[in-house]
Amino acid sequence: MSKQKAHKVVQVGLGERSYPIRIEKGQLARIGEDLRQKKIAKRYAVISDDHVADLYGDRLQNGLTSAGLKSELITFPRGEESKNLRTLAALASELARAGFDRKDGLIALGGGVTGDLTGFLASVYMRGIPFVQVPTTLLAQVDSSVGGKTGVDIPEGKNLVGTFYQPRAVYIDTEVLQTLPRQELLGGLAEVIKYGVIGDADFFRFLEKKRGPILELDEDIIPGMIARCCEIKAWVVTRDEREGDLRRILNFGHTIGHAIEAASDFTLIHGLAVAMGMAAVADLAVRTGHFPAAAAERLKQLLRDFGMPDTIPPDLDRQRIKDYLQTDKKTVAGRVFFVLPTEIGKVTITDQVAEEDVDWILGV
Ligand code: NAD
Ligand code: GLY
Repeated sequence: MSKQKAHKVVQVGLGERSYPIRIEKGQLARIGEDLRQKKIAKRYAVISDDHVADLYGDRLQNGLTSAGLKSELITFPRGEESKNLRTLAALASELARAGFDRKDGLIALGGGVTGDLTGFLASVYMRGIPFVQVPTTLLAQVDSSVGGKTGVDIPEGKNLVGTFYQPRAVYIDTEVLQTLPRQELLGGLAEVIKYGVIGDADFFRFLEKKRGPILELDEDIIPGMIARCCEIKAWVVTRDEREGDLRRILNFGHTIGHAIEAASDFTLIHGLAVAMGMAAVADLAVRTGHFPAAAAERLKQLLRDFGMPDTIPPDLDRQRIKDYLQTDKKTVAGRVFFVLPTEIGKVTITDQVAEEDVDWILGV
């Protein structure tokens, strides 16, 4: 990939539900002006976790005010613990008390928790009001803000209640990544690497070459890197919005990753569990004859180069990981679907992996 210009737009083509993803450093204060021109809503509720609201709420709201748009900031406590039906009900009550109606809209300002929660709220409040995504973590910028999956967790599992509901626009300001804690950045980079493996060998090579500038958040390359991830995600989502089949490839590394995350009682952050999951499933693909051993080593080397784990921690209970694999919501009729790489840049989906091969990978 060559040096990118600072501003880029990726289109998600879904007919009348199509929308742009605008990637631009420092655009937070200018989103109001763009929304005024788009005439999506007459008033906005900015939904954010308390931490992101403190960091960026004013900047966004000042821009809305300057553009002549009214807004209210509504916050909830940061963290996955807030992504539940209780928070959803509390946010809906705040909207109702503030008199929000069907002509109004929501702005999700934050990471994937805020985006998933706000998207779900937008899809059910008054039977559906418009919303836009302003993702502030790398994970949300390259993955969760695009594609319209919304939802909350229930005690029985993560993301078990939700909707498919597309945003009207996604605004990615790369400047906000400067305040993101290192671990969160690495978690997002695991998803970035995922796109290289599932869809673009050149992009994978680019990541191998540009590790240093990426970790330093070099503005000459970060917008282009994010745009490439969004292009791949948009390509998949426009072909299979509701995850009939193809969209499953976005779960590369996630099936085992989610099981690892759950077996750690969610002490491991999502993206790092995904990194371990990608390494494990690469080993599985080698064992089942789908993927050359040298390619698996290349993936693990890249993970290590970025400072990510490429093995499952020895103290995690392997049987628990296996049990969680069986209960994953993507399991159909008891069969676990795996996204196996066949070469860097290509994957295949199969539910034909023998239990003994999975046991071997997990060391059960
Ligand atoms: P998150 O939203 O909890 O954000 C992580 C932490 O970073 C939070 O404490 C937040 O306050 C903080 N933060 C956010 N932006 C910041 C910034 N710019 N500077 C400093 N701190 C900042 O978590 P996440 O990792 O962004 O998202 C994880 C969630 O996304 C999970 O619930 C997962 O299920 C969901 N997800 C959804 C999809 C989808 O397609 N809808 C895809 C992947 C993940
Ligand atoms: N993150 C998986 C998906 O959007 O389908």
